[in-house]
Amino acid sequence: MLIRKPDDIEPSEITPERDYVNRRAFLKMAGGVGALAAGSALAPRLLRSALVADGPPEDTPNTWDQITSYNNYYEFGTDKADPKANAQQLRTSPWSVEVAGLCRKPGHYALDDLFRSVTRVDRVYRLRCVEAWSMVVPWNGYVLGDVLRRLEPEPGAKYVQFTTLYDPQQMPGQRRPILQWPYVEGLRMDEAMHPLALLVTGLYGKPLPKQDGAPVRLVVPWKYGFKGIKAIVKIEFVEQQPTTTWMRAWPEAYGFYANVNPTVDHPQWTQSVERRIGEWRRRPTQMFNGYGDQVASLYAGMDLRKNF
Ligand code: MTE
Repeated sequence: MLIRKPDDIEPSEITPERDYVNRRAFLKMAGGVGALAAGSALAPRLLRSALVADGPPEDTPNTWDQITSYNNYYEFGTDKADPKANAQQLRTSPWSVEVAGLCRKPGHYALDDLFRSVTRVDRVYRLRCVEAWSMVVPWNGYVLGDVLRRLEPEPGAKYVQFTTLYDPQQMPGQRRPILQWPYVEGLRMDEAMHPLALLVTGLYGKPLPKQDGAPVRLVVPWKYGFKGIKAIVKIEFVEQQPTTTWMRAWPEAYGFYANVNPTVDHPQWTQSVERRIGEWRRRPTQMFNGYGDQVASLYAGMDLRKNF
């Protein structure tokens, strides 16, 4: 398995303490995030997580350098530094996303058209990787449900499937059978419509770097990071649960739901703790990555040990 367990991470890969985000600079940025979030029902929580300089340090965002130099993006290599080194030649403009399947507005959409008249949002979210590391990232993007509603899903659409660009010329990792290409992910329709799920086009107020998934990626904060498919070229409304890339690669380790759950271990390591990039200590992993108040009701009555 290529995804590494926490103890395999070399000390030399860990960002030194001096790279911690500057608290003053962050307060300034958090003010902007708070103002933008203020109109939404999520405002109190977002404000709390954004204004961390006055509260517990848990949710201090990771630095730009950390977020853009320590990546998983196997189309560009399997080491954490590979995506930054190898993704810069990817042509991300022009870009179009094919919308297909059970909806009334299928077609090929330029990104501007996909997001036309959808409100841009700024959200500071924890990203918890299945490898037991985490980061805090100030994302910019669009609520996925707002985008999907405009595409008018039909009643038969039970799931949404997302596909990454397939272009081995530009994505050298796709010349090797590391995974089955192209990378595919999926959400149940009600998960996709949840207001926390985003299509992301930027971070720290700047365009999304290529290694982080430019020009558009998914971010689902209560699920392991592998749900956050990058460089999306296709969104398809389907009836059956999609078989995702990681389910295909190792079904016993990577389920469709991929909800962050400290009680369901990976076959090779515990999921009960995690290491925040930039820190040494282990933190306890929270159910649903700490977003349980908002999302637990989506899974009422489901056995999350079976539906992991
Ligand atoms: N998307 C594609 N297309 N290819 C990938 O290899 N890796 C996933 C996810 N999206 C991946 C991907 C994994 S395992 C994680 S943890 C997150 O991207 C990491 O996002 P980040 O590099 O922005 O932290």
